Amino acid sequence: MKILVTGGSSTPGFRIVEELAKAGYKVFAQYNEHDILNMDNVAKVKADFRDLEKVAQLVRETKPDIVIHTAAIGDVDKCEVDKELAWRVNVEATLALVKESSKINAYFLYLSTDYVFDGEKGLYREDDAPNPVNHYGLTKLVAENIVRSGLSKYAIVRTSHIYGFGMGRKNFARAVVESLSQGQKVRALVDQWLSPTLNTLLAKAIKELIEANYIGVIHVAGERISRYDFAKAIAKRFGFDENLIEPITMRDIQFKAKRPRDSSLDTSRARSILKIDFYTLKNSLEVFYREWIELRGSG
Ligand SMILES: NC(=O)c1ccc[n+]([C@@H]2O[C@H](COP(=O)([O-])OP(=O)(O)OC[C@H]3O[C@@H](n4cnc5c(N)ncnc54)[C@H](OP(=O)(O)O)[C@@H]3O)[C@@H](O)[C@H]2O)c1
Repeated sequence: MKILVTGGSSTPGFRIVEELAKAGYKVFAQYNEHDILNMDNVAKVKADFRDLEKVAQLVRETKPDIVIHTAAIGDVDKCEVDKELAWRVNVEATLALVKESSKINAYFLYLSTDYVFDGEKGLYREDDAPNPVNHYGLTKLVAENIVRSGLSKYAIVRTSHIYGFGMGRKNFARAVVESLSQGQKVRALVDQWLSPTLNTLLAKAIKELIEANYIGVIHVAGERISRYDFAKAIAKRFGFDENLIEPITMRDIQFKAKRPRDSSLDTSRARSILKIDFYTLKNSLEVFYREWIELRGSG
């Protein structure tokens, strides 16, 4: 079984590649600027998705049974500033990938986001109406619709606030650990709620979904929590000084892109299907903590 993972150098993508390769799948891992570590069962492919011919070529040359599409411009503010780039990579490259994948009848899993919602309600279910408040969310929603209308064998996995070690841009939880471990203060929003999701557990959940041939939309994410309480929970589990966490509000930050206030996800559907505990904060922080100890040991 051959699996193509796009965005193999991102925080979620890298763990997905690792998880599938460990399980014995033949994995093609695409990256663009950040080369991926060498791993058994993994063939790395460099491709810039601004070139749509490269996207098509990637599928034609690897001929995967399964495509897991995580590559995107994931930086919300960057999408707002460079709308054309975001549209090219997040929308047009997805369309090119979907077209080629449908020709070979590959199963297609698209990694999407809680930011398709406006954040006015929170705990969104799969069939709640999306209403993105920024360009990033809009591009991801349009890409979802391309996947839905262009393929029959597809899964759209919406997740929220991915954190973890491995590869990818620095994420909030990692920044919290790095700052607090050095006795430095961190600022955290008291008025933004999310469902922080550990990359390692997301990868295991995605493996289960593809092995179950899941079709349709599904929310895979952690427990609803504010960024401030999340930072506190990290401090508590890691044994850091909680007083170093300074509460701030959205009004204290000049974001380039508007943020949803509460984009947390209802994950009851995934919890009823999946065996893995991808969901509880307690388990997620336990795994995250053990990974940090391991990293410190090896570093
Ligand atoms: N971050 C979150 O909290 C979050 C929440 C929900 C869903 N997601 C989804 O998870 C995925 C990864 O998000 P992220 O925040 O980790 O994104 P990211 O840091 O922007 O990483 C995106 C990935 O896409 C690749 N990429 C970017 N531009 C590319 C281009 N021009 N051509 C080919 N590949 C390109 C990057 O490769 P290189 O690094 O090698 O250039 C990287 O592997 C996205 O689909 C995002 O929508 C993220």
